Amino acid sequence: MADETMTFDQTPTQDVETQNKVASAERAAENANVGAAISRVDGPLKVTGQARYAADFSVPNPLYAHLVISTVGKGRITGIDDGAARRVKGLREIYSHANKLDNGSAPFFAAGGQAQQSWEPFAEPDVRFYGETVGLVVAETILGAREAAAELVFEYESQDPAAVFSASGVERQEMPDKSTTKGDFDSAFEAAPVKIDSDYETAPNVHNAMELFATTAHWVGDKLTVYVPSQWVKGFQVGLAEELGIDEANIEVVCPFVGGGFGGKGSLFTWVSLIAAASRDLGRPVKLYVTREQGFTTASFRAETRQSVRLGAAQDGVFQALEHTGEELTSRADNYFVNGQDATIRMYQADAIRTKLTTVHADRQTPGFMRAPAETPYFFGLESAVDEIARELDMDPVELRIKNDTMVDPVDGVPYTSRSLKECFRQGAEAFGWSDYTPEIGSKNEGEWLIGWGVATSTYPTQMSPCTVRIHLDVSGEARLQVASHDVGTGAYTVLTQAVADELGIPVEKVRVELGDSRLPPGTIAGGSISTASNVSAIMIACERIRQRLGLERGGDNDLAAAFENFGQGGIEEYAEWNPPGAKKNAPKTLYNGKVTIVGGPEESYTAFAFGAIFSEVRINRFTHEIRVPRMTGAFAAGRIMNAKTAKSQYLGGMVWGIGHALLEAAEVDPRTGAYMNDNISEYLVPVNADVPNMDAIIVPEVDDKVNPAGVKGIGEIGIVGVAASIANAVHHATGTRLRRIPIRPEDLI
Ligand code: MOS
Repeated sequence: MADETMTFDQTPTQDVETQNKVASAERAAENANVGAAISRVDGPLKVTGQARYAADFSVPNPLYAHLVISTVGKGRITGIDDGAARRVKGLREIYSHANKLDNGSAPFFAAGGQAQQSWEPFAEPDVRFYGETVGLVVAETILGAREAAAELVFEYESQDPAAVFSASGVERQEMPDKSTTKGDFDSAFEAAPVKIDSDYETAPNVHNAMELFATTAHWVGDKLTVYVPSQWVKGFQVGLAEELGIDEANIEVVCPFVGGGFGGKGSLFTWVSLIAAASRDLGRPVKLYVTREQGFTTASFRAETRQSVRLGAAQDGVFQALEHTGEELTSRADNYFVNGQDATIRMYQADAIRTKLTTVHADRQTPGFMRAPAETPYFFGLESAVDEIARELDMDPVELRIKNDTMVDPVDGVPYTSRSLKECFRQGAEAFGWSDYTPEIGSKNEGEWLIGWGVATSTYPTQMSPCTVRIHLDVSGEARLQVASHDVGTGAYTVLTQAVADELGIPVEKVRVELGDSRLPPGTIAGGSISTASNVSAIMIACERIRQRLGLERGGDNDLAAAFENFGQGGIEEYAEWNPPGAKKNAPKTLYNGKVTIVGGPEESYTAFAFGAIFSEVRINRFTHEIRVPRMTGAFAAGRIMNAKTAKSQYLGGMVWGIGHALLEAAEVDPRTGAYMNDNISEYLVPVNADVPNMDAIIVPEVDDKVNPAGVKGIGEIGIVGVAASIANAVHHATGTRLRRIPIRPEDLI
């Protein structure tokens, strides 16, 4: 470190940058299954401010709304003193249970519906959690709405909420139908010569995408247009129609750009029907800005978990018994769960496997998706446990994982469509320099810096959804793809452009992609890493039909002008429905009804997962205990990669978030009130540039011709999985302290 005054030294122990450059060039040359690394086709729109996000749409003469959220964790509203609020200039109306809007409810998302929670807002004076939406103020200006909201006094009869695992009033619900049993776990664990039995905890995480939750409702006659950040415009349209009691044909949901979704914009927010109903009531468009603070409780979140792992192995490291149990917090009314053990038990061979899931109903908002919802928390448990048993066995943690690799699903016995975990470890280890690993605790320490290396496996199931698309090609060689899918910042516009260009044999500049509007043919929800595989598979069908009708050859040197001349028309259009293997026959039709179908292929024939290996280095200051991650290498194999550049960005983004998950992010719940005490991004910490100095994501080549016609596994979520364990394992290597609760904070090392 050149500058002695710097407070931390993040100098990595290897010159990974140089190594990675060489390795990347070699990989690019040998990898034919990776699409061109073109820059985002929508990049210029974004950097010039022309990309319109939900809040950017102008409507004529709008009113502005502000949410009022509860300031007790449980109870009921006994009165509302609105005297001062009503004197605020420009106030138009104050809504609450006392003058309920004409809104209803749609079924809960996780129960096959669309809504983020099962209950109807404002239906009753009850308060179910701290920060619940209890009022809506509408005024001529944003500031007027906020001022009036600040003047409003809600009176409550309040009770003590049971808001955290340890509260006495929570209700536990065992979920036996979600458990898995293979072999006789108890005997196998008992007999195993080497074993560990550990408990882990993960903190609640809250969505803090760059784009806030801003929503606009605009009626023209009986037609409603809603501009809302959404990962599922079709579902929002259908759910909102049900809530408002109108024909869905009269609703258009518009969201061409999303400033980060991550699951937080996947289910229909409760405020959408409120502002739509208020707009209908007041006869003016209504714009709502949900503040950063309010987003903490009015949107969904990643709930805290408590987990136990029991893992038994033979002396040679072969796993004999694996049990992973989990408790997940959910709301009082809704039984939301992620059940990540379903993924953890598919990682390694073991004769005896058992899982158990318990949900814990508390006085909190209903949780929901957040990037790799199931795997992110549960792989902290599993992959910490694997590291613990590697220590017990005195085995290299990479070698142990490779030893227990399997080419058939440990539970179902069916083969993986492809599984390149070993290759991920090989390439990741090489780039990271794992051959220099020295297992002794503290063996890498330098002066005041405790240095540790850690590793973990990453995975994400390959999931697919039915999808419909419409493609138009004209004689000038210009193509247009229309699908109510989404680009949540992932690069979907770009990879779908590439797919159409590739299938029709035209340059990418000639392709226009339209996404994010419920009038388009219904596509997938942008969740579960399903979008690319599903969209590209549907695009392939539509393009094949176009080629057939025009007599074009795939990949051939086609004369479009002549083909259209023969065809006799200047343009051609094809609509196609793709239904993934394993889905019900009519699944594409149910897209029109706002139903989500997510399948992982025909379960009796194969299992499909993407895999990865995460290597981390941590440096911990001996005196201040500040924890830094100077470098991290992730190596991922996920079938065909449509675009090496956008894919790498997805992986790196996931890994960055993994640092937050491991070391920074936690919503701190006050057990007395159920309030989030750090409901702002100065106290709810997320990684910034200085936290991620040197990171590389390696695209491990993999050809999968079984998983779906596109050969794509999906990459949106795998990058974060395993990162927390990789870091925690590195912390152990540096310090000898095994921390089984994340985030890991400096005070945990004192
Ligand atoms: Mo992802 S958490 O399914 O948006």
